Amino acid sequence: MLNCDLDMSKPFDIEVERLTGGASYLTVAGGVDAGQRGTFFLETFGCQMNDHDSEKVAGLLHARGYQQVETPEAASLILYNTCSIREKAAQKVFSRLGEYREKQSEGKVIGVLGCVAQQEGEEIFKRAPWVSLVCGSASYSKLPGMLAQLEAGNARVTGLDTDTDETFETEVTRRNNPWRAYLTIIEGCDKACSYCVVPFTRGPERSRASDSILREVRQLAELGYSEVQLLGQTVNSYADPTARKMRFSELLLAVAEVRGIRRVRFTTSHPSDFTPDIVEAIEREPKICDHVHLPVQSGSTRVLRAMQRTYSREEYLEKIALMRGANKPIGITTDIIVGFPGETEAEFEETLSLLEEVQYDSMFSFKYSPRPNTPSLSMSDSISEEEKSRRLAILQEKQREIQAAKNARLVGEQFEVLVSGKSRRENQWSGYTTAHRMINFASQESALLGTYVQVRVTGAGPNSLVGEHAV
Ligand code: 5AD
Ligand code: SF4
Repeated sequence: MLNCDLDMSKPFDIEVERLTGGASYLTVAGGVDAGQRGTFFLETFGCQMNDHDSEKVAGLLHARGYQQVETPEAASLILYNTCSIREKAAQKVFSRLGEYREKQSEGKVIGVLGCVAQQEGEEIFKRAPWVSLVCGSASYSKLPGMLAQLEAGNARVTGLDTDTDETFETEVTRRNNPWRAYLTIIEGCDKACSYCVVPFTRGPERSRASDSILREVRQLAELGYSEVQLLGQTVNSYADPTARKMRFSELLLAVAEVRGIRRVRFTTSHPSDFTPDIVEAIEREPKICDHVHLPVQSGSTRVLRAMQRTYSREEYLEKIALMRGANKPIGITTDIIVGFPGETEAEFEETLSLLEEVQYDSMFSFKYSPRPNTPSLSMSDSISEEEKSRRLAILQEKQREIQAAKNARLVGEQFEVLVSGKSRRENQWSGYTTAHRMINFASQESALLGTYVQVRVTGAGPNSLVGEHAV
């Protein structure tokens, strides 16, 4: 499962997207004749997978002659790529659609993409009749046909199948970052965790052919990308559909071998499919980043069973031991849900003790949110909102202490950093280490964006490090 934002802390004041004026980078030349058909505004909520889907949708529209614009006011087509992982995220969609209401009367076409589109389907037309297009995340390959129908004058079009075994590949992708490229290698999810909407909104698991992945990585390298991030809800469940039958760890190594690629990241890993060969690949190949995001969700085996997570606390800890036994330190991050139906105080404390035992580098934590269609919806949501908030605060404070202590021990060490942000303040930059630790650092040099530099850590807080350029 992927997160809304995998940054380990708040990035620097100016992020790369803003530095580049929100410009997108065409990664494969298409028959582009932008602006001929009109303009589109695309807003994205949710995880990296949604971000990347939007990059592909933008590429697809661009190739069909649409031009991307920065505001809904300037657009003839307004698209909203949505997230429904928790109730709050889904609610936000309808309030945002309300804001778009008067835009339709101005002649603009409004479309809903992504997980809320898949989940709510035609219901969206009832709740927001000013919407003309509803396309779920498993149906993006049908988007060109849907756009053609709209252009032909159809008032309402939908794409809501989840039974497609296609992955969403486009000829043209407009990437938002000039150095790090997202690349989806597996879509959907077959895991059926009892609280999760993803199997419903993104459909069954489909892996992309290894030769097609490697072809795109080579193109990316030629275009100057040096970091690729392989994406999937359960990225390490990758099953190559070609005769080559590459294992996930082999794919990591093959991507790292591509000339010009300096960093290979991957997210999110599922503990049940996390095998020793992945750790061996990280050990063997310095280009494979020393970071694994391994959501545990709970430290209690009873709760894990109720969540249908397919592993026990002990089995999860065996995976952690594999990484701790590696010949180099590997940054480990996780996701946790508090207040799952029936979670007792003692079970919550097992999650606290797991944090203590694992010593994560970072954590994303959430209050359990009941979601439509999921098996856990029928278990009574027995923990009050107040109690969920209390548990969340305790959990986050514990993790804050762990991170503060861990980061303090890094003072004096030196790391290679890919510079991806620049502060408004003179000579201040930011970037990430291979273990995905964020460092704000000082350097007298200019034009560091997109380069790899050595940074010595001079200070540390719970969420980020401070350093200086080591020359
Ligand atoms: N309620 C709360 N958190 C959830 N997540 C997924 N579904 C839910 C839910 N119904 C969390 C999990 C997952 C992360 C991306 O979101 O921790 O790993
Ligand atoms: Fe992740 Fe489980 Fe949801 Fe699949 S069902 S996306 S493994 S949380």
